[in-house]
Amino acid sequence: GGWSRLVIEKPYGRDLPSARELDASVRMVFRERQIFRIDHYLGKETVQNILVFRFGNGIFEPLWNRGYVDNVQISVAESVGIEGRGGYYEASGALRDMVQNHLLQVLALVAMEPVASFSGDSVREEKAKIFQSIRPIEDVMADTVRAQYTAGAILGEAVPGYRGEPGIPADSRTETFVALRLLIDNWRWAGVPFYLRTGKRLPKRATEVAITFKHAPLPLFGEISGDNPAPNLLVLRIQPDEGISLRFGAKVPGTRADVRPVHMDFRYGSAFGVEAPEAYERLLLDAMLGDPTLFTRWDSVEAAWSLLTPVLRAWDGGALPLQSYEAGTWGPDAAAQLLERDGRLWHRM
Ligand code: BG6
Repeated sequence: GGWSRLVIEKPYGRDLPSARELDASVRMVFRERQIFRIDHYLGKETVQNILVFRFGNGIFEPLWNRGYVDNVQISVAESVGIEGRGGYYEASGALRDMVQNHLLQVLALVAMEPVASFSGDSVREEKAKIFQSIRPIEDVMADTVRAQYTAGAILGEAVPGYRGEPGIPADSRTETFVALRLLIDNWRWAGVPFYLRTGKRLPKRATEVAITFKHAPLPLFGEISGDNPAPNLLVLRIQPDEGISLRFGAKVPGTRADVRPVHMDFRYGSAFGVEAPEAYERLLLDAMLGDPTLFTRWDSVEAAWSLLTPVLRAWDGGALPLQSYEAGTWGPDAAAQLLERDGRLWHRM
């Protein structure tokens, strides 16, 4: 007489075959509309605001494409280590723990097409199309970086290396840092790289989406340093210090036409002054109400695993060396080189 729903925490499987097996078992008992696969990033206000920002305003969407955007960077930096979860983490690693779910979900919201309405399944439908358009990663050597932290210091406090954490074997090859270069093969994004990175024991906790726009067609003004003015940059700060900032060039007062980058800044805290609900509060409420919009649909989970399972296999087969980075730094040199090869830099968080 009532209703039954199943809420499942990520990770949903640990590769494509195990996710399919899990899904087949679940579907023996539940229908898709009863299954609520949690990705708590989708419950974050600032993640939901990506769609409000894009589609609730008239001025951004016309620029949101390959004609104007040079590259997109999605970074999830954490200063924490594995927080006593050695057993889970050692079998998981950063690609399964963060990229397969949180980072790809954020990417889908940044990249998806507009929907006609926010009701029903339309958002999940558009996200699924993005997952299906991400180009398979064929060259793991060129387009992926994996690394593990060694002992170092965070905010002046010494911290052990990953292999010194409780429950982690001394010869562990599990990655605690990942960087990827992805391309989306559709009309909106063809040729625009999406760079993703996430890591534990980085200098600080910060999650952001940084969208760098193309330079103005003609460099009429010199930046104060003498270079071309810095390109426009839109940063969606997901957490902490939630907000959005836009960088643009402004004339430096004086008789010369020098330009310096300045920022327009929106801060959630000062604009609204209310605490957002916890991501899980919102998601569990939606599950009880039967609203699946903020949950991941099977086809997206499957597409995400289809993209990443070959990477996991190639890594396991030794196709890419495991780099190391000192705790308290921004990851291995290889992560910087991933962008330098394209003539770009990571946005400094
Ligand atoms: C979880 C991961 O899903 O997300 C953790 O298992 C990670 O390893 C956490 O620390 C990060 O979530 P948040 O909300 O703190 O960014």
